[in-house]
Amino acid sequence: MTQRRETVRVDLPGREYDILIGPGLLAQAGDLIAPLLTRKRVVIVTDEHVAAAQMRSLRDGLRAGGIASEALILPPGEATKGWDQFSRTVEWLIAQKVERGDVVIAFGGGVIGDLAGFAAAVVRRGVRFVQIPTSLLAQVDSSVGGKTGINSPLGKNLIGAFHQPSLVLADTATLGTLTARDFLSGYGEVVKYGLLGDAAFFDWLEAQGPALAAGDMVARVQAVKRSCEMKAEIVQRDETEQGDRALLNLGHTFCHALEAATGYGDRLLHGEGVAIGCALAFELSARMGLCSQEDPSRIRAHLRAMGMKVDLADIDGDLPDAEALLDLMGQDKKVVDGKLRFILARGIGDAFVTADVPSDKVLGVLRDALNLRG
Ligand code: GLY
Repeated sequence: MTQRRETVRVDLPGREYDILIGPGLLAQAGDLIAPLLTRKRVVIVTDEHVAAAQMRSLRDGLRAGGIASEALILPPGEATKGWDQFSRTVEWLIAQKVERGDVVIAFGGGVIGDLAGFAAAVVRRGVRFVQIPTSLLAQVDSSVGGKTGINSPLGKNLIGAFHQPSLVLADTATLGTLTARDFLSGYGEVVKYGLLGDAAFFDWLEAQGPALAAGDMVARVQAVKRSCEMKAEIVQRDETEQGDRALLNLGHTFCHALEAATGYGDRLLHGEGVAIGCALAFELSARMGLCSQEDPSRIRAHLRAMGMKVDLADIDGDLPDAEALLDLMGQDKKVVDGKLRFILARGIGDAFVTADVPSDKVLGVLRDALNLRG
């Protein structure tokens, strides 16, 4: 069966770009990227896992379009997203004599996309880059919208720049190489889009989620497309997160505290934290009388049906108490004038940003969630 390729346009004046979505895009990378180039050479930044599984396909695809390439292969994992590997990448790009007219390719998941995008933002005061995201999380979130950066020892993503890519190639065939856990972690971000702004999409995910997880390519393309459409629409309204872009952080205030408490590692993947965080944000919304109690129950039922982490009880090992978790939320970038900004919801598909959240309500939600751990 011929698979259709979908295109989502990000219409930022002067920095417009397309997100192409579909299986087999790596093989066409050369033809798709060639129109951006002033000379037929690109530099690729990737990690060891992606290089082992997919580099040959990308290089063959580039070569088919007459494009030569050099690659920097970084260690996999969140620890790469710090000053050491960042300065290594920047120096490598300079040593490769990358010019203003050249294009850097970020080939990998969120860590590589963020780091390589930030390196492209600063080398020669900014060169263009193409995102080729290989994880579901990167295809639906981090490769789109121009947030690039690295972690500080004081917190995640605290160093960075807005730098929009020139093109995003989301080859949905690459999702076939992900572990079930990594795929479902990315699915946490997909669910987030339904919850924040499209109830019909959440209905669709309830019906199609299992097929999507099992590998149904048509469903995967549709899910990535709808997620990217929603992200593009929000980024067009508010590129630098002065307002509405914060909606994309539904579930993230809880998530960032949980990630900090669990060491940003294998105990809790980012998308797993987002899924748990979305359930907690809806629980908080229900307790504040904003949405019905059925909404958090329905969300938890869907996450459970997908085999995902849903509750704090699903996180292995010790967690700090509610007060300490609330403290960790205070480190979040979404603090404005010392007040935590939360994304709450009036119902599934109807989220909004507010700083008006009493901390005793948040503590109540956290205490009850921790108590369920027994
Ligand atoms: N991942 C949230 C954003 O791009 O704004």
